[in-house]
Amino acid sequence: MFVDYIFAIYNFETIEGKAPTRKGAKVHEESVKAFFFFVFLCILESWWLTKKIDMPLSRIFLILFFFANAFFAQAQTPTTLQNIYGRTSISLNGRWNYIIDPYETGFYDYRRQPFDQSASGKGGYYDDRKQADKSELIEYDFDLSPTMKIPGDWNSQAEKLQLYEGTVWLRRKFVAAPKDGKKYFLYFGAVNYEAHVYFNGKKLGTHKGGFTPFQFEVTGQVKQGDNVVVVKADNIRHADEIPTVNTDWWNYGGITRDVLLAELPATYIADYKIQLSGSALRIEGYVQLSGAAKQTVTVQIPTAGLTKKFITDSTGRALISLPVKKLAYWSPEHPELYKVIINSETDSISDRIGFRTIETKGQEILLNGKPVFLRGISMHDENPLIPGRLRGEADMRMMLQWAKELGCNYVRLAHYPHNEQMIKLADEMGLLVWAEVPVYWTISWQNPATYANAQQQLTDLITRDKNRASVIVWSVGNETPISEPRNIFMGKLVSHARLLDDTRLVAAALEVHRKDNVIVIEDPLGEQLDLVSFNEYAGWYFSDTKGMLDYRFDVKFNKPVIITEFGADALGGFHADDATRWSEEFQDLLYRNQFKMLSAIPGLRGMTPWILVDFRSPRRPHPVYQDFWNRKGLISETGKKKKAFFTLKNYYDSVGMRYK
Ligand code: GCU
Repeated sequence: MFVDYIFAIYNFETIEGKAPTRKGAKVHEESVKAFFFFVFLCILESWWLTKKIDMPLSRIFLILFFFANAFFAQAQTPTTLQNIYGRTSISLNGRWNYIIDPYETGFYDYRRQPFDQSASGKGGYYDDRKQADKSELIEYDFDLSPTMKIPGDWNSQAEKLQLYEGTVWLRRKFVAAPKDGKKYFLYFGAVNYEAHVYFNGKKLGTHKGGFTPFQFEVTGQVKQGDNVVVVKADNIRHADEIPTVNTDWWNYGGITRDVLLAELPATYIADYKIQLSGSALRIEGYVQLSGAAKQTVTVQIPTAGLTKKFITDSTGRALISLPVKKLAYWSPEHPELYKVIINSETDSISDRIGFRTIETKGQEILLNGKPVFLRGISMHDENPLIPGRLRGEADMRMMLQWAKELGCNYVRLAHYPHNEQMIKLADEMGLLVWAEVPVYWTISWQNPATYANAQQQLTDLITRDKNRASVIVWSVGNETPISEPRNIFMGKLVSHARLLDDTRLVAAALEVHRKDNVIVIEDPLGEQLDLVSFNEYAGWYFSDTKGMLDYRFDVKFNKPVIITEFGADALGGFHADDATRWSEEFQDLLYRNQFKMLSAIPGLRGMTPWILVDFRSPRRPHPVYQDFWNRKGLISETGKKKKAFFTLKNYYDSVGMRYK
């Protein structure tokens, strides 16, 4: 236990209470520096104290060192509640009033000083003031301002906001009846990109990252009756952020996922992980209570005849280990989900969890010990029919249903964490998932704040979805250019993912380069990953439908090969000969030729062609063929399937037969 404290505090990070494993033992250099700096501080402090109190230096040092560790150690509860939808909560979704504020007038005074940092902390739009009498000057009014639907990006809800990047203020009033002895959390599924959150006029805090959940505790701040939440959302892109300024997707702004006020007991179940431990015969994990409470927790899986009691330690954590008797393992063919009930002495929560193992052996990917071919498709979190972030379960089910119609058993959710509901639907519908953080193209590799941001987004993704059977791959990035700083940055993300979860594969869309007609995959990052996965646009960004067959692949790793992207743009309904770009025929022939090229790769074990459906992109201005759409979809923006959709479906039907 004590060792865990030290490891956890100095980022030596163990894997959930276990001693560092081979896989996770790579210790970060700065952790070592941090550790010895901490020891030096303790010695200095102890020496100073020997002047004050009559006690030998060594004893003072030990007492100091121990208490400081104990102080740091207790903070093991994650940043967001596990399984927010399993909690008692009121939804704050609905229509929110909004104010567009390109000059951040509601945040800064005319001297560009933030109002919420002023002596009074007042003065900004978060005060939600109303004119009390006719002489009073107030230059904003939420009640008289338009509304938009939340969750929902702002770009698709007002013509003038379609291309808007900047600040928008969003306000929601709601009535509450808080109970004594309960804890309250204001939870956001996602806000793009930087959110400043105010509750009843008081600043709760900020959050960066447009695709991961965050929460603030508001216990004692929820009023009986009227309450007001105000969010300043700002989606301006910056070079040092994650993602950086340059992407090939629409920068949808706003509160794009659910907002909830969760009500919890004083000591509640903050987090848990209940998964097979890599072996099919043991369920392992932990239950973490919200405080350093010693309690009995019971884990029950009634339909599997499993139930067991555990005692939490002094940090409120219980390590879970359940031998498996008889279990129907989760797979795309049989997406078996078990009701899992966790009871502590003061709280209870249930979840629907599938149990499966995923590993690689040489060039094979083994799902529940059996070789599998990942018949996949890539997709963005966007509804093409009404362009905007997917707005609810129906939208998400539509996307995954299209993937099922294609014959897929796997989807790549690009290039950022998608909605939690989407992952739960993949669990239910039987689709394996590649999940990714938006470390996309050229990032500020040497900026520690950029790394911390990327690592936090990875932590939040893994924390949120670690109990989802469908998720088999954590991807730490896409098409990041090779350099020493990049290799270090990405290498640390890989170690971090392994330390947080040693039951899944870790990968990335690696860099490739061409030598004459050979496409070479030897990105050094590949050494650290479980898969050789890369994007290649033979026939589109280089060569064409004819010349592409002259190319071949040279993969320098003996690992399963997953093609994370290939494809071509086709304007839905535009038909011509198969040498004419933008035509469905060109796209279709390109797919047929890709299958020929790829099947020559011995280790080919899956693919996620780019992309399921056309999507909005500010990088695609061609007035006839694009009109700000990336047209590489197999389905057009009107939902019409293109020729290549059926070509891929047929290919998957035949591959599926081979892996029966
Ligand atoms: C890139 C990238 C995608 C992009 C695609 C394209 O490889 O990963 O985000 O949309 O290619 O150019 O269409």
